[in-house]
Amino acid sequence: MRNQNLKILKVFTLCLCLISVISCKEDIAKPENIAFNKNWKFIQKDVQEAISPQFDDTEWETVRVPHDWSIKGPFSKDNPSFSRGGWLPTGKSTYRKTFRVNASQENNKVFVYFDGAYRNSVVYINGKKVGYRPMGYIGFEYDLSEHINFNGSNVLTVTLDNSAQPGSRWYTGTGIYRDVTLKIRNKTYIPNWSLYVTSSRISKGEATINATFDIKNENLEDKNLTVETRVLLNGKIVSISKEDALVASGKKKDLLINLKVDNPKLWSPKTPDLYTVNVQIKDNGVVVANESVRTGIRKLGYHKDTGFSINGEQIKLKGVCLHHAAGPLGAAVYKRTIERQLEVLREMGCNAVRTSHNPFSSEFLDICDEMGFLVMNEVFDEWEIVKKPTTVQDGKKVRIPVKYYANIFKEWADKDLTDFVLRDRNHASVVMWSIGNEIDQMKTDEGIPIANRLIDIIHKLDDRPVTNGLIGYGWDAWPSEGAASTSDIRGYNYIKENGLDREDQVAPDAMGIVTECASAQSYYPRNTYLYGEEKAQWWAKLGYKHTDAYEWVEKRELIGYRGVQAWKDIKNRPNIMGQFIWTGWDYLGEVIPYGWPARSSSFAPIDLCGFPKDGYYFYQSQWSEKPMVHIFPHWNLDGMEGKEVTVYAYTNGDEVELFQDGKSLGKQKNNLNDVEYQQWQVVYKPGELKAISYKNGKQIAEDVVKTAGKPAKIDVFVRRKTLKADGEDLSYIECTILDKDGNVVPKADNLIQFKVEGEAKIIGVGNGDNFSHTSFQAKERKAFNSKCLAIIQTSENIGDITFTASSQGLETTVVSFKTEK
Ligand code: GAL
Repeated sequence: MRNQNLKILKVFTLCLCLISVISCKEDIAKPENIAFNKNWKFIQKDVQEAISPQFDDTEWETVRVPHDWSIKGPFSKDNPSFSRGGWLPTGKSTYRKTFRVNASQENNKVFVYFDGAYRNSVVYINGKKVGYRPMGYIGFEYDLSEHINFNGSNVLTVTLDNSAQPGSRWYTGTGIYRDVTLKIRNKTYIPNWSLYVTSSRISKGEATINATFDIKNENLEDKNLTVETRVLLNGKIVSISKEDALVASGKKKDLLINLKVDNPKLWSPKTPDLYTVNVQIKDNGVVVANESVRTGIRKLGYHKDTGFSINGEQIKLKGVCLHHAAGPLGAAVYKRTIERQLEVLREMGCNAVRTSHNPFSSEFLDICDEMGFLVMNEVFDEWEIVKKPTTVQDGKKVRIPVKYYANIFKEWADKDLTDFVLRDRNHASVVMWSIGNEIDQMKTDEGIPIANRLIDIIHKLDDRPVTNGLIGYGWDAWPSEGAASTSDIRGYNYIKENGLDREDQVAPDAMGIVTECASAQSYYPRNTYLYGEEKAQWWAKLGYKHTDAYEWVEKRELIGYRGVQAWKDIKNRPNIMGQFIWTGWDYLGEVIPYGWPARSSSFAPIDLCGFPKDGYYFYQSQWSEKPMVHIFPHWNLDGMEGKEVTVYAYTNGDEVELFQDGKSLGKQKNNLNDVEYQQWQVVYKPGELKAISYKNGKQIAEDVVKTAGKPAKIDVFVRRKTLKADGEDLSYIECTILDKDGNVVPKADNLIQFKVEGEAKIIGVGNGDNFSHTSFQAKERKAFNSKCLAIIQTSENIGDITFTASSQGLETTVVSFKTEK
């Protein structure tokens, strides 16, 4: 009986949800885009019967997309994703969504748009297959109209297959892990991605916005339409054009509208002003189509003598390579995840991102547009040849081929590339395209025609230059001159010092970019400093002899060349646009040089949770103008009493002075062009180290490390206390363990319990320990080297949130938030 009641309640709740999915208050069917992220049913297996609309999915889990189920874990040595996929589970899964479309929409068309579903997605509507898309990173739209029940129930079923493993060189995530949108359109409409906006004749006084788009008429009669195109800045119309268009039944018409904008606000990293271009099509006075895109008015210049410029000002790309997943939430990336990631990077001095090595979410590019980041938008990591990356299995280095893109390249590459450019070409942030990363075929002549074909596809759709991250310059395998010269901008991965000189000889007129450099800058997790026997033991754990023990300050030149040298070369050569370091953030998978139990990389200056490592401050010293100095290691080096320890400093001042317990240990010069860091040999004794940085003799910054006492309290850092009541907003709550005097306890590993009350829930935790197998979805987390993270997500109700971090023996900390619409 109880079960029966429960079922009735579930059905009732479901009906309420369905009714609210599409509300149609007006008789005139309006074109509209409906967020389709809520109330999906999900199961972690392939259920072919679920294609049928009659299938009963009430017992399945209800989820909200973006949804990545691999991240739930568990980590296991038996998972076939292997170290490449962070030892996380993969496989098949099925999603269903039931919805109603009002009868008043009957004369309209219904489309569904997925920004990405990982991978091999097959989409069915009411039992009919509408599409298959093997690539998991690409956006796609299907026309559902023919099979929709107007004024009745409809079921969308999506099956995914990510079981061929290892399925990539990095963690991919599995699921409908990006936004879904239901699009209701009139039979007169502007097709997906057809609205393309550029600007020309840009000066201080005026600019021309050029909007091109198609109008499709699927009505049985010809249509005499009015087309109104407006340019808006902060919601205010700044330019408008009106014209008539006759579109014959069953035909498509393409239009080009030019609009003049006076005194344009030019887009640049410092002033990321965006205009909205809105097109409204009216049929007999009724709006039948209404599409908008955002655009940045800016002049991009690429010239070997004057360098890369925006609106005439030369800019160097101080860039990082990123993978699409972003820490404890895996690949299910929310707007706030991306914003925070870019905020932390911007504070490091970074202004550019390479989307390595695949299309990212539309939201990622939206946020880059808004924040003024520059993007090298990359599409492929493999062409026709399967990559066999080195990895460690049972203590041995082996080469395991990945089951990634090579098998479908011939059939899908042109379509995927076309859709990638069509989706992303309106973004102001995109300053170049990349057709590949370390494509082995580029070392042979057979790669050249493929490269030319891909470049042609892009050139037909957009005028921004194309690059290709080639590996091998200055190494054993120097790609042929032909390979490099296919690209508009030569892309060099891991070029060595003399490589750029050689390029100046071979191709004096070419523009280039260091598409990748400075990998494996550290193999230790954040704030790990090992001395003597401890260090030997760390590397002994590896099980094989490893000689390339990179640290932030040692042997960094082994891959590519020293960070400071690379930046110096790039800085001083106008024809080199900039650099992208590998990577900005640690990522799941590719755990080089480790095998099990390591589950995430450790190369980056920022750990998986967004906590800076020492390397972060190296880039800050090179890239940022904000005065800074950073010293390391921390000063809780038990066992080192009386022994000499090297203390390092990074600064953008021209001198640094180190003080131990108030006594000066001397000043060191910092010639920003040659010197990467300053160092002192210091005899360790508990106490205080202070570094003061000077510029032209004046103090500009200081940094202090103190020997901390026992853990006593939890410091909590949040960037915002007012969150959006939209069910999607997040707060990343960063916890640090302090002693009673407020000093960071550098090795603290206390277990912290998180509790949230009010209008939010905890959706992720982490601590940046690359070896930890604790679930990212727990409600507690041990600190790792003093830090851990909790991520909370708001509900849709306006209200208060109280977050509590507590741990046995430590003072409890409470943070309050409010949410608003
Ligand atoms: C590069 C490659 C990256 C990543 C990196 C690790 O050669 O392009 O995708 O694998 O090595 O060091």
